[in-house]
Amino acid sequence: MAETPRRTATRRHYLMCRPTHFEVTYAINPWMNPEKPMDADLALAQWERIRDLYLGFGHEVSYIDPVPGLPDMVFSANGATVVDGKVLIAKFRHQERAAEADAHRAWFEARGYTDIRVPRYVNEGEGDFAPAGRRILAGAGFRSDPGAHEELREFFGLPVVGLTLTDPRFYHLDTALFVLDEDLVAYYPAAFSEESQDALRRLYPDAILATREDADAFGLNAVSDGLNVVVTETATHLIDQLRERGFEVHGVDMSELLKAGGAVKCITQEIRRP
Ligand code: ARG
Repeated sequence: MAETPRRTATRRHYLMCRPTHFEVTYAINPWMNPEKPMDADLALAQWERIRDLYLGFGHEVSYIDPVPGLPDMVFSANGATVVDGKVLIAKFRHQERAAEADAHRAWFEARGYTDIRVPRYVNEGEGDFAPAGRRILAGAGFRSDPGAHEELREFFGLPVVGLTLTDPRFYHLDTALFVLDEDLVAYYPAAFSEESQDALRRLYPDAILATREDADAFGLNAVSDGLNVVVTETATHLIDQLRERGFEVHGVDMSELLKAGGAVKCITQEIRRP
């Protein structure tokens, strides 16, 4: 039997937004149904559990104030992409979320970040952009404008690998792929075009491949610090593989935020310092 690799965590800084005003009042992805009941207290408890896990791992968590009338603002990963202390603000595809970008811009400005770019093209932050070591994986197909990939490359000065999403249920890259460490990812192949599947196979020959059930359970909307992986507990096949590869898995219930089409990664923006 192959030896289990030894994993190490690195300390992270996350930006989260309390789900105070979380609701499903419109439908901009196939998971959202405003008719379906949602338990706001349970949503908050599920969010707090994840925040407490991060604090327990020794990570730093900052908070952006929730804004009334922006029910999806809990998905803080969408507000900006931060690499090397440089901040690329989002520009949302849907009018319903547009004002979230201004709140993120104000948050970073108030904290002394100076290298802040307000983009020309639609991008939804880490929804479609996944920094992985010294490259950035970038999704398109449903939300980000393909022009955003060039803007991303130029602003951060890092190579960008464009990936095309083809299944509307996996409308953001972070619903179909997550970064485990600098050179390891997990993904659901069928969410991507043939060319993008080829590109992923070439870049990550030992990637963890998720099943349809894992992807439907939002198992790929997970967060890794290199050792600990916070993931929806129903993604059982993926969880088995993560354990086999030496990761410590922390399974969570995300039933309420899933009603808006989001899970662990969506509520976690990573602030990457230089
Ligand atoms: N309701 C939100 C939307 O459709 C969910 C965003 C989830 N966030 C994410 N990073 N995938 O925009």
